[in-house]
Amino acid sequence: TDFEKRILCIGAGYVGGPTMAMIAFKCPQYKVHVVDINPDRIDAWNSQNLPIYEPGLEEVVFEARGRNLFFSTDIQEGIEEADIIFVSVNTPTKTFGEGAGMAADLQYWEKTARQILECSKSPKIIVEKSTVPVRTAQAMERILGTDGTGKFQVLSNPEFLAEGTAIEDLKCPDRVLIGSRLTEEGLKARDELVSIYANWVPKDNIVTSDTWSSELSKLVANAFLAQRISSINAISALCEKTGADVSRVAYAVGKDGRIGDKFLKSSVGFGGSCFKKDILNLVYLCRSYGLQEVADYWEQVVKINEYQKERFVLNMLHTMFDTLAGKKICLLGFAFKADTGDTRETPGIYIAQRLAEEHCRVVVSDPQALDNAKIDLKELGDAVSYVEDPYEAAADCDALAVLTEWNLYKELDYAKIYNSMTKPAFVFDGRNILDHQALHDIGFNVFPIGKPALTHYRTNGRTR
Ligand code: NAD
Ligand code: UDX
Repeated sequence: TDFEKRILCIGAGYVGGPTMAMIAFKCPQYKVHVVDINPDRIDAWNSQNLPIYEPGLEEVVFEARGRNLFFSTDIQEGIEEADIIFVSVNTPTKTFGEGAGMAADLQYWEKTARQILECSKSPKIIVEKSTVPVRTAQAMERILGTDGTGKFQVLSNPEFLAEGTAIEDLKCPDRVLIGSRLTEEGLKARDELVSIYANWVPKDNIVTSDTWSSELSKLVANAFLAQRISSINAISALCEKTGADVSRVAYAVGKDGRIGDKFLKSSVGFGGSCFKKDILNLVYLCRSYGLQEVADYWEQVVKINEYQKERFVLNMLHTMFDTLAGKKICLLGFAFKADTGDTRETPGIYIAQRLAEEHCRVVVSDPQALDNAKIDLKELGDAVSYVEDPYEAAADCDALAVLTEWNLYKELDYAKIYNSMTKPAFVFDGRNILDHQALHDIGFNVFPIGKPALTHYRTNGRTR
């Protein structure tokens, strides 16, 4: 059949899969081909059992797959026939050499660029979808041997979807951002990409800019979002010392239209594959340009997040009579947020490791993330067990720790759970989602984040 455009996406992950499925779903006139080097992932995309859990994703994929949406490992053929190539490979934090633990690891990215060069027989528009350091497009152009006038145009089109709401975010994005060279060829390529999104995104929500501003905007957006969480989490520590309630503070502060009420939920800490990685990438960039003060400022957002996770563990330890050895704690939730099975950088990993260090036994429960949890916590051996049913998971435990805000945890029969637990029984609500008064009435000693504890004994304030 004759398709109006042939779109390729290299990288079939959390971003490439849903993003391309949405383009194919909204634009049956385009052929959308998604390729990956990982054959298992591609098999899963072609099966009834998609490789990632995302509300609404199945409907979109099942509608478009086989019609104008195709998944394969044939990268070479994909490149040859494409007019537009999105690159959505992973850009994790470097684990070795210069910049280890901070800089973005661009090896997958560069391999892709070289492969595009090798397989291309016709002009192409290359779209950076992955999150990359500012000025990566320049490196891409050099590898492709273009100065912006030849066969290849490189555009920046960062993705702003959040996991758990990816389909909604893609259907109605706050904005789509497209950066290009401001030359005639650059603007022409940009308009090509604008015309794809314009099939369903209102023109006012398609923002265009120069390439460097676009690349940098992605890092800055994530830094600002994470900064709000670290700001409110820092205040949660002060609330616990003073008897103020962090939810009330967040509500009062967020009512100011200049501040806004979103992303002010105090928690056990932020997780996910993006925030930490992207902020550290920003910090590294600042340092490499000699901007020490700017780097230190943003690095503090990550440090407060580490502090919040450690505070949560120490609070459990001190509350439970300064020893966790031989005790059993049930983690309610392991995914880094609700409605996803993704556990990358989830606070649960750190917390389970720290509890195991204290010789505590850990029972992990989660409706979607247990397979990933088993991989993440493998080296903890039989200190950890994995039980999907929350009632079974909580039985014989000394404490419950809520780490993910799954709705199902709000609706459990906590009286039944209390009866099955070792006494005194504790709840540490790392997401402030439970009815703390009701839990206290049942008999639990309740420790929310940034709010007064509700106990059945006298406390003289928290230790940290
Ligand atoms: P992911 O690890 O889920 O997917 C990346 C995929 O690329 C993997 O399946 C991998 O096998 C594949 N790949 C790597 N090298 C390849 C190559 N040479 N050829 C073909 N395939 C290759 O990662 P992700 O979460 O989808 O993130 C991708 C990018 O998008 C990252 O830069 C990330 O920062 C950014 N991003 C992620 C999110 C998110 O919520 N996960 C949101 C916005 C932006
Ligand atoms: C984030 C950005 O939101 C998204 O725009 C970008 O494209 C990718 O990174 P994601 O990591 O998928 O998305 O989820 P997000 O909703 O941002 O949550 C990140 C973490 O912050 C989660 O662990 C979440 O629980 C936590 N969080 C979020 C809070 O602790 N408090 C809040 O108020 C909001």
